[in-house]
Amino acid sequence: MKKHIKSSWAEPYRMKMVELLKMTTRKQRQKAIREAGYNTFLLKSEDVYIDLLTDSGTSAMSDRQWAGMMTGDEAYAGSRNFFRLEKAIQKFYGYKYIIPTHQGRGAENILSKVLIKKGDMIPGNMYFTTTRLHQELAGGTFADIIIDEAHDPLSEHPFKGNVDIQKLEALINKYGANRIPYVSIATNVNMAGGQPISMKNLKEVRALTKKHGIRIIHDMTRVAENAYFIQQREKGYEKKSVREIVFEICSYTDGATMSAKKDALVNIGGFMATNEWDVFEEARNLVVVYEGLHTYGGLAGRDMEAMAIGIEESVSDNHIRARVGQIEYLGNKMMDFGIPVVKPIGGHGIFVDARQFLPHLSQDEFPAQTLAAEIYIDSGVRTMERGIVSAGRKPNGDNYYPKLELVRFTIPRRVYTQAHMDVIAESALNVFEERKKIKGLKMVYEPKYLRFFQARFEKLK
Ligand code: F0G
Repeated sequence: MKKHIKSSWAEPYRMKMVELLKMTTRKQRQKAIREAGYNTFLLKSEDVYIDLLTDSGTSAMSDRQWAGMMTGDEAYAGSRNFFRLEKAIQKFYGYKYIIPTHQGRGAENILSKVLIKKGDMIPGNMYFTTTRLHQELAGGTFADIIIDEAHDPLSEHPFKGNVDIQKLEALINKYGANRIPYVSIATNVNMAGGQPISMKNLKEVRALTKKHGIRIIHDMTRVAENAYFIQQREKGYEKKSVREIVFEICSYTDGATMSAKKDALVNIGGFMATNEWDVFEEARNLVVVYEGLHTYGGLAGRDMEAMAIGIEESVSDNHIRARVGQIEYLGNKMMDFGIPVVKPIGGHGIFVDARQFLPHLSQDEFPAQTLAAEIYIDSGVRTMERGIVSAGRKPNGDNYYPKLELVRFTIPRRVYTQAHMDVIAESALNVFEERKKIKGLKMVYEPKYLRFFQARFEKLK
């Protein structure tokens, strides 16, 4: 495609099957969210019109993927689909050894157990909920080394996923390389709003870690989206394909964990990858304890086949341009309405700044949790809190108080239409116009781990 011809981001596919949705009344939704303890995770999906809870496992698979599922080899050991998956990972990402897992956190569990010792520090470009918890459960402490701009919803830095090299260097000097088993680098940082790391910054992290003999482990859940932003924004990458950029990103890292439920376009699946034989050996041994044999890791043969095909489809320029184009369409529409969103617009969804949206609520009144509930009541659009509830508690029991208090409108891949995007933006506007009347929440039930999934709330009077 010629770059100088501007055309719309229209989808490079057409529909051949549809799923009918239930429409509900406002009264039904008020009842449903109350019964769900004002937690969108506890709603029945049936009561949701447009589901933007997550982009995880919610993609539409292609006809090629569905056809691939029919070729599943469900042997307990040595399934042919495992070898197809292994080949796809080696070809498109370049990692040597792979271990399938049921999803991303399965890979995080095994990797953390293999690499982290009690007392270790794990620097990372912002935390992710499950990733940090596995680091902590393995005895490590997470240290945030992302640039300050990432914590500022108003900063328009083009690479808010970048590492602050000085922060990383200071940490290495303070603790010593021996206590840092790896630096955890996420591409298209989820909690920052789907924001990319630049290739230049990644190369700098590589140079510094190499000097100290420290690994980089890549959370590559949304690597294709990150590669697209590099192609669009970073000098020298305009003419490279997303596929080439993805491969280059991976080449600066030593291993990876992947939730294939996102960029790799499957409903279930993940893997751990490493270039080190010793790490592989130990992980391959542990996977049989927690997931399943090392040639299926908790997946059916057909799931591994769908993943192998999804990986290839995910690095196509046409796919990713339409994917991110749809999100930019929604984000621009919301910005035109004056709704405070994190800028630049991210790769997997729109992140609305709940502090700015509901300035009369304190963080202890859960502004983002409240806003997600109000959007659902307005239109049946289900979004997710990414603020104080998601941040959880420190190992010593104190609450984390994150700077970002966001509601995530996460867009599944290849699922919704432009008219759906219009409905979503209009609903956000409806709630925005009534925002002064909105009251906060109080937490009435708090689970010990990853509380955002199951916590319950009541409306403040
Ligand atoms: N890393 C990142 C950056 C993620 O976004 C997720 C999942 C995981 C790891 C864990 O993978 O769910 O397959 O076990 N994120 C989902 C989300 C849950 O909604 O953002 P998983």
